[in-house]
Amino acid sequence: MDRTQVAIIGAGPSGLLLSQLLYLNGIDNIVLERQSREHVAGRIRAGVLEQGTVELLLKAKSGGRMLSERLVHDGVSLAFAGRSVRVDLKALTGSSVSVYGQTEVTKDLIDARTAAGARLMFEAAEVAVAEFDSAHPKVRYRHNGRTHELSCDFIAGCDGYHGVCRQSIPQGALQTFERTYPFGWLGILADVPPASHELIYSNHARGFALCSMRSMTRSRYYVQCALDEKLEAWPDARFWDELRVRLPDEIAAAVITGPSIEKSIAPLRSFVVEPLRFGQLFLVGDAAHIVPPTGAKGLNLAAADVRVLYQALVEYYRTSRTDLLERYSQLALRRAWLAVRFSWWFTSIMHKFSDDPFNHRLQLAELDYLSGSTAALTSLAENYVGLPFEI
Ligand code: APR
Ligand code: PHB
Repeated sequence: MDRTQVAIIGAGPSGLLLSQLLYLNGIDNIVLERQSREHVAGRIRAGVLEQGTVELLLKAKSGGRMLSERLVHDGVSLAFAGRSVRVDLKALTGSSVSVYGQTEVTKDLIDARTAAGARLMFEAAEVAVAEFDSAHPKVRYRHNGRTHELSCDFIAGCDGYHGVCRQSIPQGALQTFERTYPFGWLGILADVPPASHELIYSNHARGFALCSMRSMTRSRYYVQCALDEKLEAWPDARFWDELRVRLPDEIAAAVITGPSIEKSIAPLRSFVVEPLRFGQLFLVGDAAHIVPPTGAKGLNLAAADVRVLYQALVEYYRTSRTDLLERYSQLALRRAWLAVRFSWWFTSIMHKFSDDPFNHRLQLAELDYLSGSTAALTSLAENYVGLPFEI
């Protein structure tokens, strides 16, 4: 039977970053990923990194390309009622955010792991985790047509919302908290310069819209859509028209259109499971919690989990102390709930929930208040750039 110290299930940003940080601290690990390398490296996800995430990627020695290619944004704008208000993140908090796609973060981490000779197994099928309530957990999987068994000290469940790890924990041991939203985001990627040099979140009577980017030549735009919307119903021209309608005139006029290179619909969900540890199995990132993309907290929250877990494992292997491992769930959940609250709130003031005009008036009043109150803007800004870490 093969053996490692930490078996990591999933090669999304959580699994890859944890693997790299453990490796740099002399902790042996194996990553088992269901999908192919090309699939993992090609997925289009969000693109805003908190400074804490940037620092963790640098600590993981996989932030070189990010440092040279990222766009540092000192502010974001909120558009509503035909006007737009800039939230000066830097002035309000002293911090900025970095625009750099999660797709690129994933590629950089795969490159760093591969260069270090990592045991990074793509296309690992039928992954099953067992005996994690004992001191000797096991992981079974199929790879290249053969069945393998792995013995380890710990399992890190970095396998996302649909992964096998959370589902392997006895039902009665977990409590789940969930909210689904009655709409999704239709997003497109296009090789056109962005409408503005910063992100714009727009509240409109027809629904939310977001102007984002990956670089000064590649834009990412979203419009709120119905959950049962079909991509075929959204040729590029319809998307661009709907986007412009939902933006203040001046911004709409600055939108440069072009053929889409990717188009997809994503549902919005808030989800948290408690606790994040069962025996020697730890849940990390999307396996543990999901937030709606408004505010771009998903990847940052995953990185924050990894930050606590890798430090806890380093402490354990250096000193045999389990203090931090025992606090993992509590520390990660505290931050997760703060991000769940912020993402839910930001979602709720920016989206169309119903045709009830009272709701829209309330949202406009809240945005009006925000735009005139340094206290309210600071609250938004400090959540957007990322709250301070506890450890
Ligand atoms: N066996 C092996 N791998 C699996 C299994 C399984 N049974 N199930 C899922 N996986 C893999 C998925 O293919 C995926 O590559 O686990 C990985 C999970 O990656 P993500 O879903 O990206 O989750 P995570 O790494 O936690 O990343 C944080 O926060 O909001 C999001 O978009 C953000 O994806 C980002 C996430
Ligand atoms: C993105 O660029 O994909 C993005 C940016 C900000 C968000 C969500 C998504 O809040």
